[in-house]
Amino acid sequence: MAGKKLTVIDLQKMKYEGNRIVWVTAYDFITAQLAEQAGMDMILVGDSLGMCIYGYDGTIPVTMDQCIYHCEAVRRAAPNTFLVGDMPFGSYQVSTEEAIRNAIRFHKEANVDAVKLEGGRRVADVVRGIAGGGMLVMGHLGLTPQSSNALGGFKAQGRTADAAMDVIEDAKIIHEAGVFSILIEAVPPEVTRIIRDELPIPIYSIGAGIHADGQLMIVSDLVGHFQAFTPRFVKRYGNVAGEITRSFEAYIKDVKDGKFPGEEHSYGMVEGELPGLLDRLKK
Ligand code: KIV
Repeated sequence: MAGKKLTVIDLQKMKYEGNRIVWVTAYDFITAQLAEQAGMDMILVGDSLGMCIYGYDGTIPVTMDQCIYHCEAVRRAAPNTFLVGDMPFGSYQVSTEEAIRNAIRFHKEANVDAVKLEGGRRVADVVRGIAGGGMLVMGHLGLTPQSSNALGGFKAQGRTADAAMDVIEDAKIIHEAGVFSILIEAVPPEVTRIIRDELPIPIYSIGAGIHADGQLMIVSDLVGHFQAFTPRFVKRYGNVAGEITRSFEAYIKDVKDGKFPGEEHSYGMVEGELPGLLDRLKK
């Protein structure tokens, strides 16, 4: 059940108490309401909405406006859940000033608690700028979907000693720049454990193993809604796509067979009115 909204201090405390944080993405009102009712610690309005909602191939086309609309809906549904808005591609790459302006938009228009952005040392100045503006900013390292072209595709990261050192160094640099937590995606669990132990801030995982301070999943994967592909790190907890398909097929059959709508789904005329209507039509 939903309780009081967590603060950054609670999240920090949970790391030190070994109390794992559980969070999920959400993009719409109903799903966010269910997430809050179920007791999720945090919600991310991820730019994964590009694939899960808009049918794009990746996250690159997602705009600030789209992220803001979806954040607004999620915030209305989940007023008591720590809400993270994902900064889309193009919203923080051009200049630190523009990044700060966009982070402010997330706060003013969608009432988020924090924003998240992808990248290591190359975004350190941006992190400094946003954090310097008094906003909470979360880092995102490892497989960063917005730079999947530069990474050579949607591939696990940090699997060699050199590559792992890069991720660890990036984590230290953005920590120093001011992130309040870091999400690590598709990196070996051993690397996540090193970062979790080295840094005093919460380290979250999506596909980065059990040793993180918390776990994130994309809702459409978790509930079995998204069909296009399933990354190795996904565990499906439901079959929403199967249930929707079953409902659609049953509806089609009922209409074709003349079984829907039944009398119970129709509005009757006021008693005694029908004969009068038929008389009038005869004249
Ligand atoms: O957009 C998103 O949902 C994300 C996850 C892939 C971590 O950033």
